[in-house]
Amino acid sequence: EKIEKGGFPHFMLKEIFEQVYSIRDTIRGRVNLEASEIFLGGISEMLPKLLQADRIIIVGCGTSWHAGLVGEYLLEELAGIPVEVEYASEFRYRNPIIREKDIVLAISQSGETADTLAAVRLAKEKGATVLGICNVVGSGIARETDAGVYTHAGPEIGVASTKAFTAQIAVLTMLALSIGHKKGLLSDEKYRNYIQELYHLPNKINEILKKDEEIQQLTLLLKDCPNAIYLGRGCQYPVALEGALKLKEISYIHAEGYPAAEMKHGPIALIDEKMPVFVIATRDTYYEKIVSNIKEVESRKGNVIALINPGDEIVKDIAQQTIEIPDTLESLSPLLTVIPLQLISYHIAVLRGCNVDMPRNLAKSVTVE
Ligand code: G6P
Repeated sequence: EKIEKGGFPHFMLKEIFEQVYSIRDTIRGRVNLEASEIFLGGISEMLPKLLQADRIIIVGCGTSWHAGLVGEYLLEELAGIPVEVEYASEFRYRNPIIREKDIVLAISQSGETADTLAAVRLAKEKGATVLGICNVVGSGIARETDAGVYTHAGPEIGVASTKAFTAQIAVLTMLALSIGHKKGLLSDEKYRNYIQELYHLPNKINEILKKDEEIQQLTLLLKDCPNAIYLGRGCQYPVALEGALKLKEISYIHAEGYPAAEMKHGPIALIDEKMPVFVIATRDTYYEKIVSNIKEVESRKGNVIALINPGDEIVKDIAQQTIEIPDTLESLSPLLTVIPLQLISYHIAVLRGCNVDMPRNLAKSVTVE
């Protein structure tokens, strides 16, 4: 086992660090930098259907559901397709309306999650075209879907999903970009820009991983908090949800992820000097809004830990702590902002003496209801 962990104390940490390579594996052979092209062989025959789709319904559970929420943002923003994201466990027990030009997309690391598999079967019964994004080759969902894209993240052993999440988002990004370009929504130049940036993203992940010690230091002050709040807007909202889930899963600290503007409809009542509030405050469309959200938290004495882009003196001035994330295109930034949140959860869990790789009551793959 020691060898399998490759010198890391836990699989989770190994898998967080592997993201530099796993993202490369996900895009390898699919993103062609010279030709500025994306080719997803597994679904190439489905492209005509995707180009004409009225709607994509994404189903998944846990972290895969969060990747679906990032996918919603990407597919609507870049590919102009309306998207709904459903918990597979809810979808399968409703009588979901699926129309002729709807496509159902199941996301699952293991490809064996019982609820997601049942959702796939229901969608097929209803005559839908069903696609899959799975990590495990030959898994149930991969076999039962009409076509799909493997994430190629390699085996994920830690129960809390990390590299599979970023691989799922990388696939969703490639899907959204290729559809958007084929539909003429993305100019050749924009498409090329995205492709180049996506290609170089692993280097930026590496930059963030170099801050591991700094992040570990920061968690010393947070390890005893009973609660935590995570805030983000736009495509960072699902990242906030994922940050909160990671903390809950492995450190047993109660955490909630919220769209930052919703804070005033409830969570703000919880904020006092004991409450860490993680805010994803990268310089994007919502930047000004996020800055005012941080001020609201600060004025209630909350302890703001903000993820910022380099040189952001405004947020540095008002937040208690900041972690710098390299600049990138807004739609690609979830692939970067989630990394420090994974590291934060990991270090807090270790400091609390928790079993990081096998947290209590959780399973890597929930194959029964
Ligand atoms: C379990 C795991 C999570 C995972 C979820 C969905 O709850 O602990 O890490 O996100 O199942 O699993 P899947 O294999 O379908 O992505």
